[in-house]
Amino acid sequence: MKVVIASSEMRPFAKTGGLSDVVAGLSLAEARLGVDVLTIIPLYASVDRDRYCITDTGKFVDVTMGEMIRRGTIFEGISEEGLKSIFIGSDEYFDRESLYGSPRGDYKDNDERFSFFSLAILETLKLIGFTPDVIHLNDWQTALVPLYLKTSYKDDPFFKKTSTLFTIHNLAYQGLFPKPSLKKAGIGEGLFTSEGVEFYGQVNFIKGGLLLADILNTVSRRYSLEIQEQEFGAGLEGLLKRRRDDLHGVVNGIDIDCWNPERDPLIPQNYSISDISGKRDCKMALLAEFGFKGGRDWPLMGMVSRLIDQKGFDLLLKVMDRLMEIDVRLVILGSGEGKYEQALTALAEKYRDRLGVVIGFDDPLAHRIEAGADIFLMPSYYEPCGLNQMYSLRYGTVPIVRDVGGLSDTVEDYRLKGGGTGIKFSEYNEESLLAAIREGLKLYHDKKTWRGIIRRGMKKDFSWGRAAREYIGLYRLAMAKGEGDDE
Ligand code: ADP
Ligand code: GLC
Repeated sequence: MKVVIASSEMRPFAKTGGLSDVVAGLSLAEARLGVDVLTIIPLYASVDRDRYCITDTGKFVDVTMGEMIRRGTIFEGISEEGLKSIFIGSDEYFDRESLYGSPRGDYKDNDERFSFFSLAILETLKLIGFTPDVIHLNDWQTALVPLYLKTSYKDDPFFKKTSTLFTIHNLAYQGLFPKPSLKKAGIGEGLFTSEGVEFYGQVNFIKGGLLLADILNTVSRRYSLEIQEQEFGAGLEGLLKRRRDDLHGVVNGIDIDCWNPERDPLIPQNYSISDISGKRDCKMALLAEFGFKGGRDWPLMGMVSRLIDQKGFDLLLKVMDRLMEIDVRLVILGSGEGKYEQALTALAEKYRDRLGVVIGFDDPLAHRIEAGADIFLMPSYYEPCGLNQMYSLRYGTVPIVRDVGGLSDTVEDYRLKGGGTGIKFSEYNEESLLAAIREGLKLYHDKKTWRGIIRRGMKKDFSWGRAAREYIGLYRLAMAKGEGDDE
């Protein structure tokens, strides 16, 4: 089976969030199962070409977008595991500081940037002669590919046998642009209806994928159901409900080599389920790193997150004064919205001996927090999948999570028969969050129960193999669907 996975990010080349981890982990796991997989991402200025031996193939693709013609350059790289990636270069669109925007906001031409990328994917495949059985698209940045395949490329013999799978990693980001984008993106006027890509007067890129991909999925089973309802459907619940027979949920995996407390080179002391004593050293080191003194028997909570509404920071800010009266400590690593960065920094000044805040993106520190914390906090308002709760389980760090999306699918509440792996709360309000934290505190001091929760969590297998097999199943469904279309 020949598969192309196209995405706007992929680790280790370019990362702002979980999507990048998913593309890297999934593509490798699929290759190990015998799939001929090719990944395609943009060549941003931040991609370290020397480090990853990314070379210019000397080939160009010319992409027609409405009345404009834009040229892309094709680069390629082979990973240590032998996996090939294609990078689409364009000085005009990708030679910029960030992936999607500056602190002042999204880049104004993101419509052009990602419709160019989507068309360049198709043109590149033709140029290099890679005929995929399935093109697997991810989020709004590549959502126009299924639309192009069913419109301007409809009669192209090269893609006659190509089907599509579209994965929703986060429905709240839809790629919404003013009407003139339609022309720039090369989408026919006829599709600017509510049954097409129009959405309250704007052009909605993600609708291209949701309407026209052969098969759809999201990154957890729970989220695949939640987005069919108004609360998390972001205005697209009706469309998703109509396509519910084609909509699946596949929980993400995690990179168990990179996130492995037994061998992690980024943590002060390695440990495992059979000898967890090193975790205490990691905790002591983290307490020292944040300059906390005394109260060593208090539980230490950690958070590593984008600082945005989705992740529950409005709730956290509301409870912070009351939380700081409890005998716990909290360290937060994150970056994102200015209002959260400023409020958390001010709170860390106020509660110096209890709250530590680092604003920034720092992978080694993320590992030290996962290893050194006793509890990992994820009070997300919504969470399509979430990766950190799975890293936490692997590191013996008990997650306290809201019972939504992927958090729901991956964490088992300790009150379950036989004991679970974490603590869940349902209502998105201050009392419920505080009650869950108080519960965590009580359990933490009940050493035997706590050890049981930790051990059950550390035993969980979240490796990519299972998810990759499920994705291969979805590719088969997409292929069967595509064949049906021909008849
Ligand atoms: P999302 O993609 O919504 O941000 P996920 O939980 O799927 O959430 O993935 C987030 C990924 O980004 C994880 O690998 C997490 O460790 C990482 N991450 C998020 N913020 C930071 C940060 N400030 N520093 C280091 N890693 C971070
Ligand atoms: C999105 C979601 C997150 C998910 C990630 C990877 O960023 O917010 O929950 O884990 O995509 O699928």
